[in-house]
Amino acid sequence: MSTPQVPQNPGEETTDLSKRYDIPLGLAHTTMQALKDRIKVHYDLASDYYLKLWGEHIHHGYWPTAASKATESKETAQLNLIHLLLTTAAVTNEAVQVEAASHATAATAADTGTAVPIAVANDTHVASTERTPQHPLRILDVGCGVGGTTRYLAKVLGAQVTGITISGKQVQIAQRLSRAAAITKSGGNVLSNDEGVVLNRADGATETDAEFITIGEKGGQVKFVELDAEKMGEYFTAEAGDAQGFDVVWISEALSHFPNKALFFQNAHRLLRPGGKLVLADWFKAEELGEGVFDADIKPIEDGMLLPPLCTQQDYVNLATTAGLQVLGGPKDISLDVSKTWDISWSLIQNPSLWAFAFSQGRDGIAFLQAFRAMRRGYANGSFRYAVMAFSKNA
Ligand SMILES: C[S@@+](CC[C@H](N)C(=O)[O-])C[C@H]1O[C@@H](n2cnc3c(N)ncnc32)[C@H](O)[C@@H]1O
Repeated sequence: MSTPQVPQNPGEETTDLSKRYDIPLGLAHTTMQALKDRIKVHYDLASDYYLKLWGEHIHHGYWPTAASKATESKETAQLNLIHLLLTTAAVTNEAVQVEAASHATAATAADTGTAVPIAVANDTHVASTERTPQHPLRILDVGCGVGGTTRYLAKVLGAQVTGITISGKQVQIAQRLSRAAAITKSGGNVLSNDEGVVLNRADGATETDAEFITIGEKGGQVKFVELDAEKMGEYFTAEAGDAQGFDVVWISEALSHFPNKALFFQNAHRLLRPGGKLVLADWFKAEELGEGVFDADIKPIEDGMLLPPLCTQQDYVNLATTAGLQVLGGPKDISLDVSKTWDISWSLIQNPSLWAFAFSQGRDGIAFLQAFRAMRRGYANGSFRYAVMAFSKNA
């Protein structure tokens, strides 16, 4: 890709609201711990708003075709992204194919009148990751938000999925939403309920919030833990022992928040079972950006979105392979097919009470909303990128 030029009109598409709340750029991150504290506060405060405005998935939508861009909702597009990740990493089963195909119907009907599984199109390495009743697929969803993906994976794969997030508030919301979604009953005992501090299990033992909630008809399970991902290596090794290991470590739009990305890849390698897979979606800067473009496009994103210095896609590949992982799929750059996310988001936040709320949270709140405009600019200029990729651990 050629180096993007300094944008001619970096302040394009301001609105009256965004102009009223303009802020000077750049609150330097004093220490990485201070940055993590700000990230935690941000998600503790903003997660109810995310849920209301953007739904249970706090990630981009993926609109892979012209028809999907014209017709598909953000909710469908967010599931499209999950399907793309599943197929990029070859974590797929019949249920996933059926779900993907049903989501593709609307996208393709206008063009061809036939349904094509969009998540499968153009992807390599499609094979199945076996799951048996004795051993449900064990997945670790790192930086799980309010658990939208965690629940979805449990539902379509019948997997046992553990979500971790640095935000205690997100854990509470994720547990509440999961209990509401739970349908499994056993022996007349309700396994999960809406209040559910203590739940009765069929075997008579009690189940606390820290334990799995059964979800979906395939017997998938979810649980959520408030945990700084930098500690996940010791935490899960102590909990399960190295022998068990996860089949899949999943990380969607969270790694860009982590100060120590090398440590994440080392921990992923440590926690995966031999043959296990790391599945990843994230935000990147383009290769070889000039200073002008970097300052105009990338800095406001790092600032407002609470990110340590953004990496390139190749940086992640290098870190993963240094940690002992093999490239399994991607990197697949889908910037052009996800950028619509920020057109929708920018229009969703044109609401005075939202800006007033952000203002009441201090500078970080306003910088966050202002960064939405920077995201659109970065995508338009090609300086800001989005990609998915997958890695495997030697069997
Ligand atoms: C943009 S949201 C993505 C949520 C979710 N993965 C999804 O795709 O819907 C980023 C998530 O990363 C989490 N996060 C950021 N830094 C973290 C850290 N150090 N440890 C654990 N979670 C972290 C946040 O709490 C939040 O849940």
